[in-house]
Amino acid sequence: MKILGIETSCDETAAAVVEDGTRILSNQIASQVEIHARYGGVVPEVASRQHILSIIPIIKEAMAKYTWEDLSGIAVTIGPGLAGSLLVGVNVAKAIALAWGLPITGVNHLEGHIYANWLDSHNIDFPVVCLIVSGGHSDLVLMRGHGDYVVLGRTRDDAAGEAFDKAARILDVGYPGGPAIERAAKGGTASIQLPRAWLKGSSDFSFSGVKAALLRLVEAGKVSSVADGAASFQEAVIDVLVTKTVAVAKERRVRCILLAGGVAANGLLRKRLVERSPLPVLVPKSILCTDNAAMIATCGYYRLKAGKTSGLDLDVFPSLKLA
Ligand code: KG4
Ligand code: ZN
Repeated sequence: MKILGIETSCDETAAAVVEDGTRILSNQIASQVEIHARYGGVVPEVASRQHILSIIPIIKEAMAKYTWEDLSGIAVTIGPGLAGSLLVGVNVAKAIALAWGLPITGVNHLEGHIYANWLDSHNIDFPVVCLIVSGGHSDLVLMRGHGDYVVLGRTRDDAAGEAFDKAARILDVGYPGGPAIERAAKGGTASIQLPRAWLKGSSDFSFSGVKAALLRLVEAGKVSSVADGAASFQEAVIDVLVTKTVAVAKERRVRCILLAGGVAANGLLRKRLVERSPLPVLVPKSILCTDNAAMIATCGYYRLKAGKTSGLDLDVFPSLKLA
């Protein structure tokens, strides 16, 4: 079963063909990072206009070796994300589905991030705990089966990726913030004491405190080395993410931990989680952690197999939740 995945929820225009939910046949991503860099963040109106320019060429590239008759269905991100951006992908997906009589399924972007793990591994035994860390979310999710989620914890303020992006602005290390902090941290040590919000008794996260503490120290001239600032910030955020994820996984007696979302591309997070977890940890390749359409196609494969098709009245849901 070959599924065409389409992803336009934020600032990446992406299309991919995935076979049987695991094998990537093509995976095209047009990043808008350089366009938004001059504003220091994603400008929604600019993003949706750029999606319009990129979507057809990107789908053509993804489909270069395949015909529409080769496909068994189309999977498209319907939310959460920017309304104007999501609309571009959803409307193109519906047009293809209508023209070729293909089934279409709307995919939750966060569910897509989780399914990036199926692109590398075929046999994942449930239940699992997933840590989804992206620009907009830090969710701890119990997954009991395909499409069966219980959200155990979420961020109460800034998402992990958002915190990285803001810290990068405070330390002036570049855009996008996550990779910039990781690069800057390589030359430093985590020698600056920054607070950790443990929120005892809860699986929720909070990262606004550590960000504010970093800002205060920088303003007071107490961060003499940007590299040490970046390393200390990165260590503080990762310490909380890893400690809470391992605790929840043990408490719920799951089979393994899945890491997902753009922040999962962070080398130290990947390393620390593997080091500190007594359970197996699955982490997708870095390129499959950040936004892509292969993960959407994989999730779509499992949805279509379960009979979860959508009609041509499929709409976008900018604030879509996982469960
Ligand atoms: O999943 P994603 O690509 O888009 C959303 O769904 O939000 O995640 C983007 C977020 C950004 O905040 C970015 O700074 C962060 O992921 N990110 C990283 C790294 N690569 C991307 N954060 C830390 N370290 C990285 N290497
Ligand atoms: Zn994402």
